Amino acid sequence: MTFAAVDVIRTKRDGGVLSDAAIDWVVDAYTKGVVADEQMSALAMAILLRGMTPAEIARWTAAMIASGERLDLSAVDRPTADKHSTGGVGDKITLPLTPLVAACGVAVPQLSGRGLGHTGGTLDKLESIPGWRARLDNAEFIAQLRDVGAVICAAGDGLAPADRKLYALRDVTGTVEAIPLIASSIMSKKIAEGTGALVLDVKVGSGAFMKSLDDARELARTMVDLGTAHGVRTVALLTDMSTPLGLAVGNAVEVTESVEVLAGGGPADVVELTLALAREMLDAAGRPDADPAAALADGRAMDAWRSMVRAQGGDPDAALPTARETHTVTAAADGFVSAVDAYAIGIAAWRLGAGRARKEDPVSAAAGVVLHRKPGDPVRAGEPLYELRTDDPNRFEAALSAAAEAVSISAEPPVPTALVIDRLA
Ligand code: URA
Repeated sequence: MTFAAVDVIRTKRDGGVLSDAAIDWVVDAYTKGVVADEQMSALAMAILLRGMTPAEIARWTAAMIASGERLDLSAVDRPTADKHSTGGVGDKITLPLTPLVAACGVAVPQLSGRGLGHTGGTLDKLESIPGWRARLDNAEFIAQLRDVGAVICAAGDGLAPADRKLYALRDVTGTVEAIPLIASSIMSKKIAEGTGALVLDVKVGSGAFMKSLDDARELARTMVDLGTAHGVRTVALLTDMSTPLGLAVGNAVEVTESVEVLAGGGPADVVELTLALAREMLDAAGRPDADPAAALADGRAMDAWRSMVRAQGGDPDAALPTARETHTVTAAADGFVSAVDAYAIGIAAWRLGAGRARKEDPVSAAAGVVLHRKPGDPVRAGEPLYELRTDDPNRFEAALSAAAEAVSISAEPPVPTALVIDRLA
């Protein structure tokens, strides 16, 4: 069935509901270049302003999946489970989590992205390991999943091509922040990847896409329902992203912190979230009795990490890049750290060179921010709060202005807050 794009746009502009046939047609025609970018931009804006019904979101997601291939992981002789985070500051959890879950007998097919703006990207972090390569073809992806049980790599071009085109368009037309479009974008890729179970880490707070709990809950609900409708056992945790995760924000520094976690140490919040997500993944994959804390403590997760890095050409023993220049910011007064603002620290790390402004920009492996204090820690005037790292000292000024108000100090310790806020299934 053929439609006129302008009629589809008008229907949504006026608050109507798009028919299944109209959705199938417009997604397919846009992927093939029959619907022009300016028409899809207008439709995306109408969707952002008018919203979509659950049935429209489900059909839109199915059409995006159908725009490309759906991977068949039946050659893998174990259950599979993946995790997706909506993105945050210092969110390196995929790095320790993927080998940890693999070490507990569940294969993890993790297709990841690069950072854009203030949030980091898993592939950028792993590329700070000498020799490591992000691109695998489908046969290599499935072979590594079978042999090692853990893969973190870039999504191939054949997976949800409609989303690749639409996401680039949304990025430059102010239409990223529409819950139906975010949910269908994320879930089309995860469903097409072929995972049996999926755990969503939906971030809430200053460093997250979703600043309010209500929006985060709506996004989580929409994604869980989409996954379930497509036969993927899907669970979501809502987790706090008002404070950076761990102490390290950047690329190589986050790999170093992840390896500390795999060695049985690392910051308490990173360990807590890694274990919480691992338990959810193991449970959703039908292995509720597996003990991820034991696999961290006895070195099995570290062994899986080393095998995973080696399988993609990386040297797990190689020294990681370090920054040529550092600048330490100290406390102006005695007291307790009451807040470390994730968004401000994320922008500072980005300005130091850890992130990119445009998709084609390179990132610096060595740049980033290392926190010396987290909320609740006591501090004395003159003691270090955080350290900026970069190869280019001209970047300090912009990073310092971004981070100027990031750390708050109060006379009394703050009331502790929960890292895992809610769970939806
Ligand atoms: N990540 C995605 O893959 N898609 C979105 O729309 C937003 C975040």
